Amino acid sequence: MTTPAWPRLPHPEIAVVPTLLLGWVLVQVAGAEGIPVKPYNLTWKSTNFKTILEWEPKPINNVYTVQISTALEDWKSICFSITATECDLTSEMAPNVQQTYLARVISLLPNSTGFLEDAVYSNSPEFTPYQETNLGQPKIESFKLVGTKLNVTVRDTQTLARSNGTFLSLRDIFGKNLQYMLYYWRSSTTGKKTAMTNTNEFLIDVDKGQDYCFFVQAVIPSRKDNKKSPESITVCTRLEKGKFREMSFIVVPVILVIIVVIALFLLVCKCRKAKARQSGKEGSPLNIA
Ligand SMILES: *[C@@H]1O[C@H](CO)[C@@H](O)[C@H](O)[C@H]1NC(C)=O
Ligand SMILES: *[C@@H]1O[C@H](CO)[C@@H](O)[C@H](O)[C@H]1NC(C)=O
Ligand SMILES: *[C@@H]1O[C@H](CO)[C@@H](O)[C@H](O)[C@H]1NC(C)=O
Ligand SMILES: *[C@@H]1O[C@H](CO)[C@@H](O)[C@H](O)[C@H]1NC(C)=O
Repeated sequence: MTTPAWPRLPHPEIAVVPTLLLGWVLVQVAGAEGIPVKPYNLTWKSTNFKTILEWEPKPINNVYTVQISTALEDWKSICFSITATECDLTSEMAPNVQQTYLARVISLLPNSTGFLEDAVYSNSPEFTPYQETNLGQPKIESFKLVGTKLNVTVRDTQTLARSNGTFLSLRDIFGKNLQYMLYYWRSSTTGKKTAMTNTNEFLIDVDKGQDYCFFVQAVIPSRKDNKKSPESITVCTRLEKGKFREMSFIVVPVILVIIVVIALFLLVCKCRKAKARQSGKEGSPLNIA
């Protein structure tokens, strides 16, 4: 494979890139000489196709402009004359995440009118979102335990990558290359079992009458690096009998209280009636009953 011929700066004199060390030496004398600091440590931070370029140092006497390019296109300026040390390049890559991109951070004196003599810059490492973006933590959308079947559905995360103006989900982008791994175990034990799917759904056989706990992880087996996402949070099933037992903690005392109240009420009534009957006999001749 040949190295792509990345576009060059319009001014040949600044295409001469000092080494990092020389850059550092320049920084030391920069303030006085009016030479902007040279950016270094350019790093891609990318998860689920949201991609940010970060670099150092914090601006001293300078501002930064970031440019991005594919080997086939001219440089395009994105973050103009910023004093931050990061630039979000997500939307530049969104229409074509399979493409390999190169960015560069240009350091300028605040008053420069273009990329003139006194600009210095550093190139980023090349970046191919499809291969290199990290897989974000997956989310379990729903699960159902019925009899001996456990059905787990993983949310298909929406990304900012686009095709024809519509946003794509991870599944849209990776197709069957994206797999999910399910780690599950009976909640009373710790021995984990695994299952794999190249959809977003698991339907696995489990023991009847047992509760299970599980988490999922996204995997792209075809990648060399960055194959796996972080693990999702762990969730556990709770069988109906469990729910009933939990509810009975509340329901049973309430029923008992109601029974006691009714019993007391009846008792009081009986007493009153008895009393009334008694006093009736004694006091009222009209009461012939
Ligand atoms: C670049 O970043 C790495 C990790 O963040 C750090 O270890 C290293 O010292 C940095 N290099 C320079 C020249 O500051
Ligand atoms: C930058 O430009 C402003 C006005 O355009 C001027 O007042 C200032 O002195 C300039 N600064 C430098 C460092 O040239
Ligand atoms: C699993 O659950 C999902 C979401 O509730 C549902 O769409 C799907 O049909 C279920 N699969 C099976 C095999 O029951
Ligand atoms: C994009 O949209 C156009 C028309 O809107 C359609 O002809 C084309 O097939 C679409 N391409 C993809 C990849 O969906």
